[in-house]
Amino acid sequence: MRRNVVVLAGGIGKRMGDVKLPKQFLEINGIATIALTLKNIMDSQLFDSLYIVIHKKWKQYLEELLTNSQIVIPRENILYGGEERIDSIENALDILKQRETKDEDIVLFHDAVRPFITKELLDRALNTTLKYGACVAVSPVKDTMIIVEKGIALDMPNRSSLFHGQAPDSFKFGIIYDCIKGLKPEEKATITGTAQICQIKGVEVHTYLGDERNIKITSIMDLFLAKAIYRELYE
Ligand code: CTP
Repeated sequence: MRRNVVVLAGGIGKRMGDVKLPKQFLEINGIATIALTLKNIMDSQLFDSLYIVIHKKWKQYLEELLTNSQIVIPRENILYGGEERIDSIENALDILKQRETKDEDIVLFHDAVRPFITKELLDRALNTTLKYGACVAVSPVKDTMIIVEKGIALDMPNRSSLFHGQAPDSFKFGIIYDCIKGLKPEEKATITGTAQICQIKGVEVHTYLGDERNIKITSIMDLFLAKAIYRELYE
């Protein structure tokens, strides 16, 4: 049984606003976000193969960054992404299939823009995958959640069953491959998270406890927060 990790870096960070580089290349206290993500994953020594999915336009930039950061990834493991995140996931799964990945092998997806991934979190993801076949990290919501329609607070659901979907999402290869290939176009259009690919097809997706520090950098505010987390963890 092989353990594969796919780092998704095929986006261009539109919500980040007016910055010159896609957010995965922005620096947190002197290190590019994706370099920190890769370093943390590689330091865990938990995987047999690591793949990166990148936008065509940014492939050369990534390769130069990897060289300058002394991160060694086989060239053939740097893959092209697609228009939407789900297309990037599917492209990666197609390549894994071509390379004779077995149904029982593990494929774990992590966002390049979640740099504070730890060995403990990866361990939890892999153990949950081995046990159940499909899983996602979650963290409990802290605020009161309100369903609002036309400006009116319609409902305030019980917080005990509400969680944030986090990362990584991890699967037995055969499960996620069959689910993604079984998606109808209208289902594909509604998907925002990786584990949803399986959940929407009726596969039971198990959860494991995420880590609040494993934030996703989406906007400038997250970058400020990332700098503070970096100082707390590494300085
Ligand atoms: N991603 C990807 N392929 C895409 C879109 C996103 O691999 N077509 C990756 C991003 O690079 C990122 C992760 O998925 O590491 C999480 O997605 P998100 O935060 O939405 O990133 P972007 O699509 O880059 O951001 P935005 O939605 O603001 O454009």
